[in-house]
Amino acid sequence: MDRVLITGCGGMSGKAFYNKFSKDSTVKATDININEHWLSYLDVRDLEEYMIEADKFKPNVIIHLAALTDLEYCEENQENAYLTNVIGAENSVIVAKELQAKLVYISTAGIFDGEKEEYDDWDTPNPLNVYGRSKYLGEKYVVDNYDKYYVCRAGWMMGGGESKDKKFVKKIIEQINNGKKELYVVDDKLGTPTYTKDFANNIYELIKTNYFGVYNMVCEGDGSRFDVAKEILEVLNLTNEIKLTKVDSNYFKNEYFAQRPSSEKLINKKLMLRNLNRMGNWKQGLYDYLKNDYYDYVKTK
Ligand SMILES: NC(=O)c1ccc[n+]([C@@H]2O[C@H](COP(=O)([O-])OP(=O)(O)OC[C@H]3O[C@@H](n4cnc5c(N)ncnc54)[C@H](OP(=O)(O)O)[C@@H]3O)[C@@H](O)[C@H]2O)c1
Repeated sequence: MDRVLITGCGGMSGKAFYNKFSKDSTVKATDININEHWLSYLDVRDLEEYMIEADKFKPNVIIHLAALTDLEYCEENQENAYLTNVIGAENSVIVAKELQAKLVYISTAGIFDGEKEEYDDWDTPNPLNVYGRSKYLGEKYVVDNYDKYYVCRAGWMMGGGESKDKKFVKKIIEQINNGKKELYVVDDKLGTPTYTKDFANNIYELIKTNYFGVYNMVCEGDGSRFDVAKEILEVLNLTNEIKLTKVDSNYFKNEYFAQRPSSEKLINKKLMLRNLNRMGNWKQGLYDYLKNDYYDYVKTK
């Protein structure tokens, strides 16, 4: 039976990891934001405490989810962004090495510059913003300083539900619940949505192997932000009630001032070559996510 230490497990992906891994492993789920009874406090910036807690628990797997994920916050708080996303990742390497645990580091499609239409596992990163740079530096440290690692790069994350989702799906749902009858959505940003349940399940399978390395891990299919919004309205049967209007990114330049790549599309080349690609289609993931986490919430408003 595995002993799995998860950092940053109180966020939008954390519950999917907790649910999957606690079925057959002993899990110590940690975060600085204690929003579940099964979480305990661990700040990945504090190496001394991290080492003490890990040494007590003795994990053979560490899943490093902890990060600051708000792009605008990272632009405005660079010191904390680098401390959390880079030094925090370095601390996980030091702890994993000491305990000889397998280490999973979650990276992002946002490490690429969007000059290409899509990126495989071997393309060269060139991040455009502080968040992307900090995640890439974390990824690079893991790769350069440890051998038993899996770096898994996610796309536009969908998960966490009403209370934890901080990203696009939640932002659209919030506007719907606030009674908006017209939504303005960009169609000049492309990506590959990533359902947190698929992501946690695929990582669960990957770490059973010793195929250490860097993996793109996104759902099948791609689209623009507009396509995702359109799909949300379709699943919720709201296409006749709410109008969707396409805009370009300039429309939101004050609110979302961090520079973003025009394409963050990833392909799971290595997972496919290893016959380990278990990611479903993003539309199916979105459907499951909305039905499980949002349907009643939206319908009762
Ligand atoms: N969300 C996405 O679209 C996306 C896409 C690609 C990759 N990723 C990566 O996926 C991983 C999981 O993120 P997520 O999607 O679940 O986002 P999230 O909801 O922001 O989760 C990250 C969690 O880490 C916590 N955290 C922040 N600083 C910490 C620290 N010093 N020590 C311990 N925990 C800390 C956060 O707490 P607070 O809420 O208090 O900050 C939050 O609970 C991250 O590594 C992220 O970079 C995310």
